[in-house]
Amino acid sequence: MKVVETEKLLRAQVKIWRSQGETLGFVPTMGALHQGHLRLVEAAQRLCDRVILSIYVNPTQFAPEEDYLRYPRPWVKDRALCQKNGVDLIYRPQNLYHPEGTTIVLEKELSQGRCGVTRPAHFQGVATVVTKLLNLVQPDRAFFGWKDAQQVEVIQRVVSDLNIPVKIEPVEIVRDRDGLAFSSRNVYLSAQERDRALAIPLLLQVAAGRRDRKKWLTQNLSKIKGIKLDYVEESQGRLCVAAWVGKTRLLDNWPISLK
Ligand code: PAJ
Repeated sequence: MKVVETEKLLRAQVKIWRSQGETLGFVPTMGALHQGHLRLVEAAQRLCDRVILSIYVNPTQFAPEEDYLRYPRPWVKDRALCQKNGVDLIYRPQNLYHPEGTTIVLEKELSQGRCGVTRPAHFQGVATVVTKLLNLVQPDRAFFGWKDAQQVEVIQRVVSDLNIPVKIEPVEIVRDRDGLAFSSRNVYLSAQERDRALAIPLLLQVAAGRRDRKKWLTQNLSKIKGIKLDYVEESQGRLCVAAWVGKTRLLDNWPISLK
C-alpha cells in the first residue's frame, strides 16, 4: 500500500495506473476509520481495479465553535486498517488550500435546510473540498455513505452541475451490533450517552414504517432524556434525523418503508 502526501506523487501514481488501463475508485474520508468507511472501500473494490482513500480533516467544513481541533486523528490505526483491507493508496495531504485561494463551491439549494440550518457554511466546505479531491484524484467512481444523506445529495448535484466526470456511488449505512450507525464521532459518547443514543435508530426504524412518521418520531424522540432533537425531515425516500446526545451531534436516517 502506498501513502502519499503531495499532489505531485498522487498524480504520478494515478498516471501509472491509468496507463495500465486500470479503473480507479475513490473513498474520501476524514480518517478515524470504522466499519462504515471500510464498507465504502469494499464497494470500491468490487467496482474498480484500484482503491484510493483520502484522509483529510477538512477545516472549511467546521464552524469555529465545532470540533475541528479535537476531531480524532488516529493515523497509525487508520493506516493499519487500510493496509489490512486492501486499500491501494492513501492520499494524506497536510493542507489542501492555497493561503491566497479565493474560490469556493457553493451549492445553493440542497445545502439549505436540515444540517444547513445549524451548520450554514458546512456544505460549501464539503462541496469545495470534494471538488478539489475529485480534480486531484480523477477517479472513475467515488463512494459516499448514506449515513450523510444530505452530503450525498449535495455532491451528486455539484458533480452534475459542474460536469465533473465521475460516477457517485452511494453506499448503505453500516451499523454497530446495537444498531447505532458507525461514526467517527461516536468516540465522544460516554457509556450512558451511547445507551441513550440507541433510541435514535430504534425509533427511526419504527417511524419509517408509519404513515405519521415525521410527527411520531418528533414526539417520541423529544421524550427521551438526554436527547435534544435538531430536526426530523424526509428526503430521497428516507426519514432523516439529527440530534444532540450531550455535546455530540449524531445523524441517522432510514429508508421509508410505507409510502
Ligand atoms: P467522514 O465523516 O470521514 O466520512 C467519510 C465517508 O464515510 C462519507 O461518505 C460518509 O457518509 C461515510 N460513512 C460514515 N459513516 C458511515 C456509516 N456508518 N455507514 C456508511 N457510510 C458511512 O463525510 C466526510 O468524512 C467528509 O465530509 C468528506 C466527504 C470526506 C469531505 O471532507
